[in-house]
Amino acid sequence: MLQVTGLSKSFPPAHRGAPPVTALDSIDLTVPTGIFASVLGPSGSGKTTLLRCIAGFEVPDAGVIVLGGTELSGPGVQFPTHRRGVGIVPQEGALFPHLTVAQNVGFGLVGTRRTGRRERVEELLALVGIAGLADRRPDQLSGGQQQRVALARALAPEPALVLLDEPFSALDAQLRADLREEVRELLRSLGSTAVLVTHDQAEAMSLADHLVVMRAGRVVAAGHPGTVYEQPADVELGRFLGEALVLPGEIERDGADVRVRCALGRLPVGHWHGTEGRCQVLVRPEHVRAGPAAGTGGVEGIVRARSYFGHDALLRVEIPGLPEPLPVRVAGRAPYRVGDCARLEVTTPVATYPPAEAKGCLT
Ligand SMILES: Nc1ncnc2c1ncn2[C@@H]1O[C@H](COP(=O)(O)OP(=O)(O)OP(=O)(O)O)[C@@H](O)[C@H]1O
Ligand SMILES: [Mg+2]
Repeated sequence: MLQVTGLSKSFPPAHRGAPPVTALDSIDLTVPTGIFASVLGPSGSGKTTLLRCIAGFEVPDAGVIVLGGTELSGPGVQFPTHRRGVGIVPQEGALFPHLTVAQNVGFGLVGTRRTGRRERVEELLALVGIAGLADRRPDQLSGGQQQRVALARALAPEPALVLLDEPFSALDAQLRADLREEVRELLRSLGSTAVLVTHDQAEAMSLADHLVVMRAGRVVAAGHPGTVYEQPADVELGRFLGEALVLPGEIERDGADVRVRCALGRLPVGHWHGTEGRCQVLVRPEHVRAGPAAGTGGVEGIVRARSYFGHDALLRVEIPGLPEPLPVRVAGRAPYRVGDCARLEVTTPVATYPPAEAKGCLT
């Protein structure tokens, strides 16, 4: 189990008179053994710094890092990097360009006995699906193959914890999707504990057993990906986690039955912020069902834009009383063109939040 408590790290200012950069601000993080955790955060939120502190490449200003009961970092304690049992796949430039694949992977075995090292390298290359490439140099490999080598090198010393820093960001969409699933299954089959950091919401959500969201050096949400997505702590987090429309509403409560009245009708509430009266409503494309314009129920709107993705399409539908068009996801080739009339019904319970009066918008 990895346990990070109160981890903080600042960097000195770039020039005199500027404030120091707070990269990590009292981070708490727990990853049970064998769990795949994703840390999602925008660029500059401190993801790489967090991994570098855990791996031992940065010395934190405060906080404690414990792995498998051993304190790796804390007041007066700095365990040497190579003895931490932590493998890292860095964000970029992971491989030594002048070394062969075998030498790159063998680098992860430095300190182990020499005999059998070549066999172990071959075994690792087979494990990550690139058997036979041992004598190539990094510039003779595709992007995906290079990332496999970096992973093999990180796995070589059989680390207790594997850290992955946006390992797929340089790859094209299909390869990226295939490789990330393959890597997750591989780490799962090895029983590895892993932390992957990324700014890609779909990547973080699809891989994680446990999802952590960072913003400006702080953890703003942590838990099961489904719970974090469906019940985001605030509207800003909800928007960051996926396409959403926020509109004003009014809570109507009858005992345990909580509903919200808004421009989309009287909707069931799945995540209620707890107070009655005015509120903000967060509606996601998948909450909405589009039916024939001639039907009854729901509300009517005009399709203003349509993006076709093959497996589904995203419509943006203008509805009277809404601050912006409503995003609606429809399966397959949606039978709508721009300018068509669509009848929409919110069929899934929505999330509500206190009104944003302080910001003077929406409600
Ligand atoms: N060595 C350093 N010296 C000074 N500032 C740094 C250093 N490393 C990181 N920072 C700053 O700390 C903050 C967090 O950086 P970090 O690299 O951890 O972000 P990140 O979430 O990994 O971003 P990205 O998604 O772009 O990789 C940023 O403001 C960055 O400029
Ligand atoms: Mg980074």
